[in-house]
Amino acid sequence: MNTLSTLQHQVSLKTSNTFGIDAIADDFVLLETLTQIEDLYRAWKSSTVAKARLFLGGGSNLILSDRISALVVKVALKGRQIVAQTNDHTIVAAAAGENWHEFVQWTISRGLGGLENLSLIPGTVGAAPIQNIGAYGRELKDFFYRLTAFDFETGEFRQFSKEECRFAYRDSIFKPASGKRFLITEVQFALPRVWKPEISYGDVAQLLQKQRGDQFTPQDVSDVICEIRQSKLPDPKQIGNAGSFFKNPVVSRERRDQIVQAYPLCVSYPVEGEHFKLAAGWLIEQCGWKGKSLERVGVFEKQALVLVNRGGATGKDVRELAAQIQADVAQKFSVSLDVEPVFI
Ligand code: FAD
Ligand code: EPU
Repeated sequence: MNTLSTLQHQVSLKTSNTFGIDAIADDFVLLETLTQIEDLYRAWKSSTVAKARLFLGGGSNLILSDRISALVVKVALKGRQIVAQTNDHTIVAAAAGENWHEFVQWTISRGLGGLENLSLIPGTVGAAPIQNIGAYGRELKDFFYRLTAFDFETGEFRQFSKEECRFAYRDSIFKPASGKRFLITEVQFALPRVWKPEISYGDVAQLLQKQRGDQFTPQDVSDVICEIRQSKLPDPKQIGNAGSFFKNPVVSRERRDQIVQAYPLCVSYPVEGEHFKLAAGWLIEQCGWKGKSLERVGVFEKQALVLVNRGGATGKDVRELAAQIQADVAQKFSVSLDVEPVFI
């Protein structure tokens, strides 16, 4: 099918973003096959569609403005397969439009452990490398092998190795504006043939022990993580949200010691290079924001790091609340909070 035959104008994105913002896209296409990309590229080059682009997955890490003056490309490429076996790893591939959680469950059902800690993260496989998704002691980069992307600057497909993606905490070369030229089409993972569980985060080990004893499988770890996540995070189908709204700030040992001296209950974790991650949810809670609202946007009652749509929120409402929280945290702790989702 010609991609442009699916081209629509003035399309509401309300059900295409988990925050539930009623944004209108100037141009919108659904991308279901790789061959459609060439048509799309030609249309984009010849300016028959809006020049700005937004590649859209599940919309779970986006805060949209009311009007999106862009060509929105909803990535719906499907397919997943085992592509190779090496001595130590099984290489699996998934197309960008596959649902992330379903892909994780598919790997587990084939006896392949590794991705279980990343269960139930909303969104698509293609968006997962953008901010190097992470949870419960694992990040995508721990199992990433390579990806394929179409470059809208050169009009060609290219592959990226792990090093080329420059993964970091909630970051990669694809996250800043300079990385937005690449439409990711497929991601490959190298899953270890010998499974090494990672259960050191929070309550994971304790819950596993209680429910399964000492013998457990990747599916058991996945189930426990799903249970913990469901008890803490709002389900976007019920309450609009984009997951953690700020990154956990990373500070020097000296700065962390000063804060802990003044606030002994401050939650922090050591990370590489003699630095510490502070729990942003704790900092925000101490500023009195947990459960509070500003107009149509609020701070989730059970997790202060999550901003929620109280009904009819706009991108502007979200920016205003985020700015107030950032100002309060900066004033009380002299720590600056960086926003995690992408503002469009
Ligand atoms: P979208 O929101 O559609 O897009 C996000 C960014 O990726 C945009 O810049 C978009 O342009 C770009 N993009 C999307 N698809 C492509 C593509 N194919 N090629 C190029 N660019 C693309 N994140 C975590 O890391 N850990 C968590 O534990 C976590 N928990 C969450 C819990 C909840 C309840 C919610 C709502 C979100 C959570 N998130 C978490 C954030 C979010 O799920 C991830 O960032 C996810 O990878 C976003 O996927 P998506 O398909 O929805 O991307
Ligand atoms: N905390 C509070 N008050 C709060 C929230 C948290 O004191 O309101 C404290 C908790 O008690 C705990 C600590 O902060 O001691 C950490 O809380 P939690 O385990 O819920 O994790 P988080 O740091 O808030 C991060 C990620 C999540 C990821 C979880 C689990 C970031 C920005 N967020 O949240 O990722 O799922 O850890 O690994 O790193 C996301 O990126 O969207 C996301 C949800």
